[in-house]
Amino acid sequence: MKNILVLPGDGIGPEITVEAVKVMKAAAEAYGFKLSFDYARIGADAIIKDGNPLPEQTVEKADKADAILLGAVGLPQFDGEKDPNRRPEMGLLGIRKKMQLYCNIRPIRIYDTIKHLSPLKEEIINGTNFVIFRELTGGIYFGEKGRSEDGQTAYDDCSYSVHEIQRIAKLAYEEAMRRDKKLLLADKANVLETSRLWRETVTAMNKEYPEVTLEYQYIDNAAMQVVMRPSQFSVIVTENMFGDILSDEASVIIGSLGMLPSASYGIKTALFEPSHGSYPQAMGKNSANPMATILSAAMLLQYIGYEQAAKAIEAAIDVALTQKICTIDINPAHPASTSAVGDFIAQQVYASVSVKVN
Ligand code: IPM
Ligand code: MN
Repeated sequence: MKNILVLPGDGIGPEITVEAVKVMKAAAEAYGFKLSFDYARIGADAIIKDGNPLPEQTVEKADKADAILLGAVGLPQFDGEKDPNRRPEMGLLGIRKKMQLYCNIRPIRIYDTIKHLSPLKEEIINGTNFVIFRELTGGIYFGEKGRSEDGQTAYDDCSYSVHEIQRIAKLAYEEAMRRDKKLLLADKANVLETSRLWRETVTAMNKEYPEVTLEYQYIDNAAMQVVMRPSQFSVIVTENMFGDILSDEASVIIGSLGMLPSASYGIKTALFEPSHGSYPQAMGKNSANPMATILSAAMLLQYIGYEQAAKAIEAAIDVALTQKICTIDINPAHPASTSAVGDFIAQQVYASVSVKVN
């Protein structure tokens, strides 16, 4: 029995994780495996109830879990807080660091059924299917930070070790081998020493993966290419800050922010979450799109070894999109509720098994 820790978090987090759990339970029943679910607090929810965005109990449970599903963190009432114990995103950064979730994977694929919603022209996004491997526990996010005594100067150190680069590059190379054997390193090696170490390290590793064609793009160019010719990409590997910006940029080109899952692999376990935020305006309205979270749950099932169930969930999402059983972001004329979308996908997952049996 696999043990899944659910961290609903803030805003729409609780609503969308309920739907993902519903679909995972349907998948477990349909495909004949057992899952147990445990819950813990993170983000604003934890600040309010425990006085800390990442309570010790949450870390203890995360440590024991086979995989973690997270909703979202962040509430506007905490915007501008200086005390780290009152900043919801410190829960997220904290769990990434504590669990050493060093590799964040964000797949970007186009759904034909919603590509008319993309801000880009159809001929530009056609054929887009790539994945960003973002380093998640190093770089400027976690370097030393501070202010000078007079408060007039601030700094955030950026440092990377060969080990930190190698462990994520290995996963990116392996993904390139599963795809079309193309790997792109996005960096700023014309300016930054850390980027030069990334280039040296990732280039040296190419010897172990001789079939992979390694290419390089400066991050500013890569950011332009994502909107000019996104179909050129296959696997992109990059450091933490560049990866944050590039993946958030990439997430909007598919037509809805509510469609993109993510996985963060660590040393011991992995965490799965939608790429979008906590969308507090929609909180409690049963209107937010649960698909990114449900797709994250599919990635989770794949990670713990239930590939068939994961595929069934992805196929069920395709059916929901084709039949327009979608929330307001995708079907504004006849929107379905968050829970109705979850119900439909769960039913489809059941049906996928009976179809095979008959
Ligand atoms: C993300 C988010 C986080 C990040 C924030 C909430 C700290 O933007 O996961 O992309 O910057 O990593
Ligand atoms: Mn981001």
